[in-house]
Formats: sequence, C-alpha cells, structure tokens
Amino acid sequence: MAVILHEEYTVSKNDYGNAGKVSSRVKDMLKKIGVGAQVLRRIAVACYEAEINLVIHSDGGRVDLDIMDDGDIILTFTDVGPGIPDLEKALTPGFSTANDEARNLGFGAGMGLPNIKRVSDTFDIKTSPSGTTLTVGFHNA
Ligand SMILES: Nc1ncnc2c1ncn2[C@@H]1O[C@H](COP(=O)(O)OP(=O)(O)O)[C@@H](O)[C@H]1O
Ligand SMILES: [Mg+2]
Repeated sequence: MAVILHEEYTVSKNDYGNAGKVSSRVKDMLKKIGVGAQVLRRIAVACYEAEINLVIHSDGGRVDLDIMDDGDIILTFTDVGPGIPDLEKALTPGFSTANDEARNLGFGAGMGLPNIKRVSDTFDIKTSPSGTTLTVGFHNA
C-alpha cells in the first residue's frame, strides 16, 4: 500500500481557542477529494476527539493524515506528554483525568477514546511516559 496524499497539522497544549480546527481542516480536505458522507462523519468524530485529547492531556503534538492508494484513510496523532498509565482504564466509558479548566469548557466526559475506537476501522495506541501515538484507520467505502 502506498501513500498518495500526506498532510500534517500541529496541535498545541491548552490551546482551547483553536481546539477543533485541525479536525475541521481534515474534514474539509477529505470532503474536497470526495470522501463519502458516512465515513467522513466517522473520521470527523475520531479526529475531533483525538485532537482535543492532545490539547487537554498532552504537551502538544501533531496529526498526520495519509490517504492510501486503496482509499484507506489513516490518521496518526503523535504527542509528547505524560502518556497513558492505564490504557484499559482510559478506554473505559466515563473515565477522565481532565482538569477543572478543561471540564469548565465542557471537555472531560471520558467518552473520547471509547468513541474513537467505536467509529474507526483500525485502532492502535502506543503510549509511554514520554508520549502517546494513536493511529486510526478508515476504509473509504
Ligand atoms: N494524548 C493523551 N495523553 C495523555 N493522556 C491521555 C491522552 N488521551 C487520553 N488520555 C487519558 O485517557 C483518558 C480518557 O480519554 P477520553 O476517553 O478522551 O476522555 P476525556 O478526554 O474526556 O478525559 C483521559 O482522561 C486521559 O487520562
Ligand atoms: Mg478526550
């Protein structure tokens, strides 16, 4: 499988003013190249939740969007930060370590990772005390 289109976006820690902008740009780009509405909705949900996680839980990172020659769409979220000490807990609906600032802005429902897993076709997390890489894939059909 070969990459036919690659884009990169930056996400900054605690940058609530821009939170969600990367997922909007990703959605616009995919819409422009003709990705179907159903898969687009799933990608938008996953991308938004993962972007917010970088803003509220990490020290910042980046998003890589790769479109493969078979139509698959891969999003990779790479951050520096504390990592996730207990992945099983983190994937439990309702579990959140979001701080008061994030909660006051309406984040921290603890549904991000469970929803990302639910809407994606492939889901992989690598995490360590120096950061986290989340890779999610979508079949464009
Ligand atoms: N990129 C990340 N870096 C560090 N911790 C994370 C990251 N993403 C998720 N987590 C941890 O996993 C928990 C669950 O994430 P999520 O389901 O998105 O819920 P929420 O973001 O609402 O807290 C977070 O509260 C946090 O402890
Ligand atoms: Mg979240």
